[in-house]
Amino acid sequence: MSTTTPVSRCPVAHGAAVDQAPNGCPVSARAAAFDPFGDGYQQDPPEYVRWAREQEPVFYSPKLGYWVVARYDDIKAVFRDNLTFSPSIALEKITPTGDEANQVLASYGYAMNRTLVNEDEPAHMPRRRLLMEPFTPEHLKHHEPLVRKLAREYVDRFIDDGRADLVDQMLWEVPLTVAMHFLGVPEDDMDTLRRYSIAHTVNTWGRPKPQEQVAVAHAVGNFWQHAGRILAKMRENPDAPGWMQFGIRMQKDHPEVVTDSYLHSMMMAGIVAAHETTANATANAMKLLLQHPQAWRDLCEDPGLIPNAVEECLRHNGSVAAWRRLVTRDAVVGGVALPAGSKLLIVTSSANHDEAHFADADFFDIRRDNASDHLTFGYGSHQCMGKNLARMEMQIFLEEFTRRLPHMRLAEQQFTYVPNTSFRGPEHLWVEWDPAQNPERRDPALLAATSPVRIGEPSRHAITRSVRVESATRAADGVVRLRLVSPDGRALPRWTPGSHIDVECGDPERSRQYSLCGDPADSGAYEIAVLHEQDGRGGSAWIHQELKAGDKLRIRGPRNHFRLDESAQRLILIAGGIGITPISAMARRARELGMDYTLHYAGRARRCMAMLDELAALHGERLHVYAGDEGRRCDFAALLATPEAGARIHACGPERMLQALADTCAHWPEDTLRVEHFHTTLAALDPSKEHAFDVELKDSGLVVRVPADQTVLSALRQANIDVQSDCKEGLCGSCEVAVLAGEIDHRDVVLTRAERDANRKMMSCCSRAKGKKLVLAL
Ligand code: HEM
Ligand code: FES
Repeated sequence: MSTTTPVSRCPVAHGAAVDQAPNGCPVSARAAAFDPFGDGYQQDPPEYVRWAREQEPVFYSPKLGYWVVARYDDIKAVFRDNLTFSPSIALEKITPTGDEANQVLASYGYAMNRTLVNEDEPAHMPRRRLLMEPFTPEHLKHHEPLVRKLAREYVDRFIDDGRADLVDQMLWEVPLTVAMHFLGVPEDDMDTLRRYSIAHTVNTWGRPKPQEQVAVAHAVGNFWQHAGRILAKMRENPDAPGWMQFGIRMQKDHPEVVTDSYLHSMMMAGIVAAHETTANATANAMKLLLQHPQAWRDLCEDPGLIPNAVEECLRHNGSVAAWRRLVTRDAVVGGVALPAGSKLLIVTSSANHDEAHFADADFFDIRRDNASDHLTFGYGSHQCMGKNLARMEMQIFLEEFTRRLPHMRLAEQQFTYVPNTSFRGPEHLWVEWDPAQNPERRDPALLAATSPVRIGEPSRHAITRSVRVESATRAADGVVRLRLVSPDGRALPRWTPGSHIDVECGDPERSRQYSLCGDPADSGAYEIAVLHEQDGRGGSAWIHQELKAGDKLRIRGPRNHFRLDESAQRLILIAGGIGITPISAMARRARELGMDYTLHYAGRARRCMAMLDELAALHGERLHVYAGDEGRRCDFAALLATPEAGARIHACGPERMLQALADTCAHWPEDTLRVEHFHTTLAALDPSKEHAFDVELKDSGLVVRVPADQTVLSALRQANIDVQSDCKEGLCGSCEVAVLAGEIDHRDVVLTRAERDANRKMMSCCSRAKGKKLVLAL
């Protein structure tokens, strides 16, 4: 259940009310007009609900009978709690069909039921885990040659034509063939399946008119029976390769987990899950890339950017626009109280454009370093199991197109979509090029070149952005201020106060985080101020000693984990030493917004305090400077003696100062104090309460140290050991590793109590060792 308390006042403009939601609140005019089958939503779902994301993030749609959720954090909270927010309606018809269509479906014995995506606990997790193996990287690798072969053959067919509809001539059929291979389905009858699967989409997520419903019902009924026949054939040869055959084999020992109903339903739903999603995602990606010629050129020049470009395409314009959940008990989402029984349309495509999570969210940035935080694959215990197969296909398609058709461009056309709430991709995608310019005509060797596929999330090293140091100036004793610009003069992605960038300090392995301190309105440059830390690990020393104006630098980001609360009635901004960098940007913003704020800046000595002059000029009397060498100290106890409702304290500085502040604010309302912290994953990991330990890897004999502030998963990654992971919060089960010795400190919600007690497996993203060592079967 969400932790926020319901708002005491209704967020809706009552004057405009035309309807009532089930919780008694009036519905605003925009909520009443919301129509996910209309052209606005079909063409651009996140744009269509921008108003909701900004003003009414949870609203009731009387037309749909669903509550619509538009913000990233709310949607993630819904995904996280699959007991309060059940996935059981994920495959339910969003538009109930009439009697005639229902009779048609019944005449085919249609009995689509629970698969995985719509299965509740406790049935879901054991099934998911039992069926996971074919999705692991070592198994997925076997599909790579087929994907490459198909991509090659299909491009061969049209490369000399100068014009193609990528959807009709490639992107529909290749993922369908791959999906069937993955599932273990014989390849015949592709056209029939193609018709069937579209019918399934319309039947489940669309709004067919009454006269269409019957035709759709016949197609769906046929699809169902066809799936049954395929399954029967598979049962005759269960040792054949394929995920469905794998399920049939698992059924032998676990008939209560892998049921007949599951297998038949999955046979049908699996084709859609694996096929349409990926076909649409690639069509969306190609459209987006060709609409951004600079990004396309960058990709053609540096195929190393492809894995992250795939993530950014899935974020910016993914193939699943929205998903569904059923509220099983009274709950609160985004401050709105929802009664049990409410249905939710969670607009993941809107979450993917939420400024609160993605800096400059509408900007298409193939180097965005948190692109893979998108929710297009869902999140938590049901997160898409096939995502790495989809990623692999998309990478290979983009690689083939960028290498062989870098001169391709979008043809003039109107894009059309099959009207439905969830599955999204253009029905046609016409592109054109001059065949005389095909690079392989000049250089046939190019055909043989391939880039390695990245199975899983993109490597962070591949998504760095090159910048040039425009100036490096002394800002105070031991502090250098850098102004970084794009080497080709292009604008850099926008940022918000509190954001930081990761700077590679001379070596990809030595990356340090620095808060941005310039003016966010200056899109031409990023500014950071770096203190030379004498006892540091070498990053700041490198910047001070090696870096000079004109040098190239590699950075990642910006990202923001320290947002300014612009809704606060009063702001108390506190900086200690170099902690002034994010705080200065916040103060600038507070001033711009006309907020009531004070800025307290403490330092050892005036000569060591950066930015003093510009802060004084901007903030006048609101600035209070405490320079130790002048005998002035900031007296937190006096400053924060009386708690103020509606006030917010943002602070950045040395650990000691932050701890003192936390103690002083203990009597203030909870959550008043916000401090800068750089660790994004598992904020719950408190190094002062954890201990370091070793993990020994059985297969290699390697011993990896897991420090108190790191997870097993990240320590393994640093040692170049790839373990699959999705949620990194102990929710999804994908990072499971077997444990051969050592006592486990379990912190996940995936394993059952019996499994925990057995002490034989752990979720490496969150669980730890009770003692000094664990031995893992890796
Ligand atoms: C689940 C999207 C490709 C198999 C899901 C969910 C979404 C999704 C939104 C529900 C997640 C949730 O409830 O949290 C996508 C997209 C794809 C894609 C956008 C392509 C770009 C694939 C492929 C397969 C696949 C290629 C291969 C078979 C599954 C399965 C589940 C699932 C089995 C159910 C997982 C569970 O409930 O535990 N996918 N999918 N998907 N997907 Fe995908
Ligand atoms: Fe999801 Fe660990 S449980 S990554």
